[in-house]
Amino acid sequence: MDGKQLFYERRSVGYFDKTKKIDRQTLKNIINLAVLAPSAYNLQPWRIIVVESEEEKTKLQKLSYNQAKVTEASHDLIIIGNKLGWDNSNPVWDEMLESVGGNEKIVENSQKAAASLYGCSEKYQIKFAESNASLLAMSIMLAAKEYGVDTHPISGIDFEGIHREFNLKKNEELIMTICMGYFDNSKSLRPPRPRLDFDKIATII
Ligand SMILES: Cc1cc2nc3c(=O)[nH]c(=O)nc-3n(C[C@H](O)[C@H](O)[C@H](O)COP(=O)(O)O)c2cc1C
Repeated sequence: MDGKQLFYERRSVGYFDKTKKIDRQTLKNIINLAVLAPSAYNLQPWRIIVVESEEEKTKLQKLSYNQAKVTEASHDLIIIGNKLGWDNSNPVWDEMLESVGGNEKIVENSQKAAASLYGCSEKYQIKFAESNASLLAMSIMLAAKEYGVDTHPISGIDFEGIHREFNLKKNEELIMTICMGYFDNSKSLRPPRPRLDFDKIATII
């Protein structure tokens, strides 16, 4: 799909066709396209829980203020950011070492900078996890549309409940969930609501 069209056609779809499931290959294609999203130092501090079984979707729906779309969707994604994704245990640093021809100094300096920028306090660790993983979330929604799959981001959720019930680790930040599936064509989607344009949101200095 043309890039501009993709932006116009992505919508938060409240009604999913329960009979249509996303096949495994399409699911993988979407995620493997979406991971082209940018991240600080390319650290990719994120992971995704793909909720597929009816049982797990029902559990998630209860923790999403009972929003029906959670179980109507073919799959739900739990988008998770890693607050410690900047630290030396991230294997991306090894790949970086290779990509800079084994120059350890470059990697060490980057690790020090990342630690001081993103690891200096809980606040900045959360910022790091949220900013990076939110870009992944947006990327997933656009990639899905490219594959003809509809989405719906949700943050009207019980963050603590999902963290606990889906066994997120202490260093992991729940960012949002995304319902994915195919729009129920027997329903109609409200027209898109207007957006604040450049003149309203941008300041040139
Ligand atoms: C982070 C985030 C959280 C959202 N949470 C909810 C939600 O819990 N329930 C809901 O019905 N819509 C939710 N939305 C959808 C927004 O209402 C929707 O994106 C907005 O109205 C614009 O519509 P559009 O996505 O169709 O362009 C959320 C959107 C975002 C980006």
